[in-house]
Amino acid sequence: MRIYLDNNATTRMDPDVVEKLASTAGELYGNPSSVHLEGRLARRALEEARDEVAELLDAESKDIVFTSGGTESNNAALRGVFLRESECFHLVTTTIEHPSIANVVKSLESAGCRVTRVAPGRNGAVAADDVIAAIELDTKLVTVMVANNETGVLQPVREIARACRDRGIHMHSDVVQAVGKIPLSVRDLGIDSLAISGHKFHGPKGAGVFWARPGVGLEPFILGGTQERRRRAGTEPVFLAAAIGVAARLAASAVDRAGEIGALRDAMERRILAEIDGTRVNGWQADRLPNTTSLTVDGCEGESMVIALDLEGIAVSSGSACHSGRVEASSVLLQMGVSEEAARSTIRISLSRETTEDEIGGFVSVLGRVIARMRAKSPVAR
Ligand SMILES: Cc1ncc(COP(=O)(O)O)c(C=O)c1O
Repeated sequence: MRIYLDNNATTRMDPDVVEKLASTAGELYGNPSSVHLEGRLARRALEEARDEVAELLDAESKDIVFTSGGTESNNAALRGVFLRESECFHLVTTTIEHPSIANVVKSLESAGCRVTRVAPGRNGAVAADDVIAAIELDTKLVTVMVANNETGVLQPVREIARACRDRGIHMHSDVVQAVGKIPLSVRDLGIDSLAISGHKFHGPKGAGVFWARPGVGLEPFILGGTQERRRRAGTEPVFLAAAIGVAARLAASAVDRAGEIGALRDAMERRILAEIDGTRVNGWQADRLPNTTSLTVDGCEGESMVIALDLEGIAVSSGSACHSGRVEASSVLLQMGVSEEAARSTIRISLSRETTEDEIGGFVSVLGRVIARMRAKSPVAR
């Protein structure tokens, strides 16, 4: 039996989601824009899903837009502000955003926008004051994620959004990693737009949601038909939306049990730190998602640990990226002030509501063995 602990990369679809996907794809083939019965049935399924997502986010159904995923939703926000403004402007972001934000910011910079990137502290969180202090007279956009995908560290989005609100600045947040793990409310966060992704909360891949506060006037960046109230052109994938609706309903109730995942994760961390010397948790000082652990293991390369664990039937990930045969350290960890060697010796363990105590017990035992073996092979590395 495999043990899957890479839920920040993607999750297994919930069986209820798979069932909905199959039944909707097979039966509801009408175009939701058509007036005949087939069209009306498809429309009804789409609108039911919209209601379920709205409930999850404490938003109005009419403001929910279905997209192809987190990446598109982040693009919709940032490009939407860019297309709305008639001249280039200043924007504030952090140095730890997902590439679906960071690379769009880079492209806006190439197009003439000025950018201030705020780095996190040693604990992995940016300081709200640093972000607010970076605001300039012509700042039109601030984008800060709710939770980092590698460390799980929560960012002070609510405070930043309040400051943006006072100054009439659009505040976007990439909320992709937070769904089903912490309570989410667009009213409470006070943001102007957000992005979520179905496959991060036991829903389908290639399906996401974009929410924007009414009246913010974002221009759509995908042009075509009048679907989704002209905010996202293209015939709606009814089966994916219906599946995301079910996933959203399940995620909303999973938040109530997130404490159990947190307790399991905390117990895992305590055991690892007590039983395996030369291990550290990155971001432990900060508030974190209950499911995520970024673990540095002295003397063991992250990628090698991932491969060794995989051979033992366990899936985790390393934040490192392999470029031209060379393993590059995670920039998120480097930004936190973690040394390059430590960043390259890090794995990410991410639990889900499906993770059991037995799985965690098994994982920690295997991890201990794998680390001992790797260290024995290259004792100089320690
Ligand atoms: C924080 C964050 N934002 C955005 C995305 C992109 O989502 P998608 O895979 O749906 O495009 C991811 C996925 O890895 C993510 O972790």
